[in-house]
Amino acid sequence: MTIRNLDDLLAEGVTGRRVLVRADLNVPLDKQTGAINDHDSASAPQDGTPDGVRIADDGRIRAVLPTLTALTGAGAKVVVFSHLGRPKGSPDPQFSLRPVAARLGELLGAQVRFAEDTVGDSARSTVDALADGEVALLENLRFNKGETSKDDAERGAFADQLAALGEAYVDDAFGAVHRKHASVFDVPARLPHVAGRLVLREVEVLAKLAGKPARPYVVVLGGSKVSDKLAVIEALLPKVDRLLIGGGMCFTFLKAQGHEVGTSLLEQEMVETCRNLLERSEGKIMLPVDVVVADAFAPDAAHDTVRADAIPSHRLGLDIGPETVAGFAAALSQAKTIFWNGPMGVFEMPAFANGTRGVAEAITKADALSVVGGGDSAAAVRALGLDESSFGHISTGGGASLEYLEGKTLPGIAALED
Ligand code: 3PG
Ligand code: MG
Repeated sequence: MTIRNLDDLLAEGVTGRRVLVRADLNVPLDKQTGAINDHDSASAPQDGTPDGVRIADDGRIRAVLPTLTALTGAGAKVVVFSHLGRPKGSPDPQFSLRPVAARLGELLGAQVRFAEDTVGDSARSTVDALADGEVALLENLRFNKGETSKDDAERGAFADQLAALGEAYVDDAFGAVHRKHASVFDVPARLPHVAGRLVLREVEVLAKLAGKPARPYVVVLGGSKVSDKLAVIEALLPKVDRLLIGGGMCFTFLKAQGHEVGTSLLEQEMVETCRNLLERSEGKIMLPVDVVVADAFAPDAAHDTVRADAIPSHRLGLDIGPETVAGFAAALSQAKTIFWNGPMGVFEMPAFANGTRGVAEAITKADALSVVGGGDSAAAVRALGLDESSFGHISTGGGASLEYLEGKTLPGIAALED
């Protein structure tokens, strides 16, 4: 099985050819009412105006620039498409990619033509108007039911329309390769297809972790839910030397150890599973020994550090404590390979950011191949002002990197194989 990459396409010559690039420009947006992203769209403002929208983290836009500039430099007519958030199959202005087009243009230092639909009149005329070396961005793919449909025919019909816009297909949307969506899975079946620079780099690095990682191999997992991470924990436990667990999910593990967790996030139905994992883990799993508890989920809530086995019944844990950070840092300092996914606490609130910051700093100090997986952990690195270049690799894919490490077949990668 081989996957051709961008260099193979460039070698064929792309001057004047319409090249479709699937990117993952699903960036977190700030609106006056607070941050929204694909996972908390319920809190998004309902007025639907994109005015005042600010891109909170443009990492995913910057990550596709090498592919785009290689294509424009070679004289291709570049047609970029992406999803943003989780609109329900029809146009929804709060998920418009228009602000992303503006930012992409700034980063490219060139005009980006924006089409107001994905496969309609605006898309067709925008693509027709492209000169060699120019870039267009189409409106959110998920404004169309066919994009995410489970029905092959419905997805296929949408893919036919998308494919008609171009002559070749480049997948550079690593963050979406685990989705069996029209733009990821069905379009490459209809056009000559290659992996873009970002997808190639992501897969090369993750293949090192999945293959024979240098030891000790230490994995740090955080984020809110055990249920989201269960499959990757199961897959990684036999491979790793240490598994450090923080974030909201640690409270379900602490409960499984027999501790009370107050009003902290708890997945009661996962407690038994966590107990079982702890029993089977041969001591590899490290849990917090202290946590920062607060009166409420709020940036200015009164808070204290307590032992992990002494969380008061009326308070909730929002970060790991300093002794835990020191213990995690000691384990990380020995590591030769590190994978980190998920924040250790509510890092968006400065009072609860120390755990994530401490672990991130320990990772940068280790003499190891360090891989940061996930939209949230990657955004945390940038939001905390850490030097991105001190990590070995910062993945643009959260779910995608986890599913890769689980050993799952990723539809978007499978679709590129010949
Ligand atoms: C992500 O942010 O996880 C990717 O862009 C995929 O988005 P999705 O989880 O909404 O499919
Ligand atoms: Mg996601």
